[in-house]
Amino acid sequence: MKPSKLRVKRAPVLETEITVPGDKSISHRAIMLAALSNGPCTITNFLDGEDCRNTVAAFRQLGVTIEEPEPGTLVVHGTHGKLTAPANDIDCGNSGTTMRLMAGVLAGQPFTSRLTGDASLLKRPMRRVIEPLSRMGAKIRATGDGDRPPLLIEGGPLQGATYHAPVASAQVKSAILLAGLKARGTTIVTEPSQSRDHTERMLSYFLVDLDRERITATNPPEGEFQVKIEGGQQIESRDFIVPGDISSAAFWLVAAAAQPGSRLLIKNVGLNLTRTGIISVLIRMGARIREVIEDVDQGEPFGLIDIKGCRLKGTVIAGPEIPNVIDEIPILAVAAALAEGVTIIRDAKELRVKESDRIAAIVDNLRAMGAEVEDFEDGMKITGGRKLTGARLSSHGDHRIAMAFAIAGLHASGETIIEDTDCIATSYPGFEDTLAAVRKHSFIRPRHTQVISSIGRRDQDSSLK
Ligand code: S3P
Repeated sequence: MKPSKLRVKRAPVLETEITVPGDKSISHRAIMLAALSNGPCTITNFLDGEDCRNTVAAFRQLGVTIEEPEPGTLVVHGTHGKLTAPANDIDCGNSGTTMRLMAGVLAGQPFTSRLTGDASLLKRPMRRVIEPLSRMGAKIRATGDGDRPPLLIEGGPLQGATYHAPVASAQVKSAILLAGLKARGTTIVTEPSQSRDHTERMLSYFLVDLDRERITATNPPEGEFQVKIEGGQQIESRDFIVPGDISSAAFWLVAAAAQPGSRLLIKNVGLNLTRTGIISVLIRMGARIREVIEDVDQGEPFGLIDIKGCRLKGTVIAGPEIPNVIDEIPILAVAAALAEGVTIIRDAKELRVKESDRIAAIVDNLRAMGAEVEDFEDGMKITGGRKLTGARLSSHGDHRIAMAFAIAGLHASGETIIEDTDCIATSYPGFEDTLAAVRKHSFIRPRHTQVISSIGRRDQDSSLK
């Protein structure tokens, strides 16, 4: 089959209301905790993207019954934490979250399993989970080049441990917590700044006791964070509704923010403070944004984001803010190219080992569109203000690069063609439909837009709420 491409033409001023599909990180965790729980769990608004489908397929291979009564709804029959040996390798596809979190789940199961993936995943580093899990007694071996997958896991009894993660990574933290749940004794994991905390929130929602603490008294996201879990606890089965994915909303936020006169409302979207760094950054760049939390019943806050476009200005994105916006850097780089002045992105070396080398991919594509960009090993400097021109771009097989540059295409002259866009289905099925819908509600000359009330700064001092 021929790989698909996306053609995008200029449509700068947007005025519409949208929703986005279920959160990818939360959907993965919902399947995992439900599968390990002690009964049936109904998960609604589950992200039906390829990454999460890989997690569903993995648990089916491990003996878990998962029904799909209707699109976006799964009924997962919990196994009381007892999975069965898979007959074949478990294929995690493109999904680093599936592989790293499953390593934590499988390390404590009494059988051998092998986790593999697509060409991109087979290049991604796994020492970061192998090392802490090995300290807990796990027998895991990377059978690819260096510390690269496939991972061979000889499951067995685990012992709780204390691990100081050198970088803030939710995947590493979650793998350790999932292994800690099966281990004897206490497991403690610390991270130098806070990464997304969906695993902690969902464990609490599924009635698992855990302690969370900010160890150093600084404002989040700075400071060291600690999570402590006692092994041997049972996950109680519960139903769960997945909020919309802020990382998918991010594309539309930038599409609207970068153009004076645009106005966009995104409903039903997750507003967890460990994920909403994109909103803080866009506010710093001058966007006018109002967010309203409507509910936090299931441990995850969600609500609406109302955004008005304006002339953006450059900013600095670095330090402890990086884990909070790690998946949004491609689209923030596009925002920076559309802004006036200089944007510096640093401390983001991790981008080199995501689904693609995202620093190289962003720099290549921005340059092809006429932007001024300088790359560093851990980030880039973008001097905004030059008009973007349509170009033929590669997705580099990376869903977030493909979507970020589709949005750039909305703001560029001529036509932008993004090659190889099948990868979008890993996290955002329906992206192209929303792109078409948003284009329909766009117009070239700014129209009068209603003023929305209380647009302004956000309270950034409550990340552990
Ligand atoms: C994820 C964590 C992040 C993120 C990834 C999803 C998760 O990775 O980039 O897309 O669901 O835990 P790291 O934890 O490796 O930074």
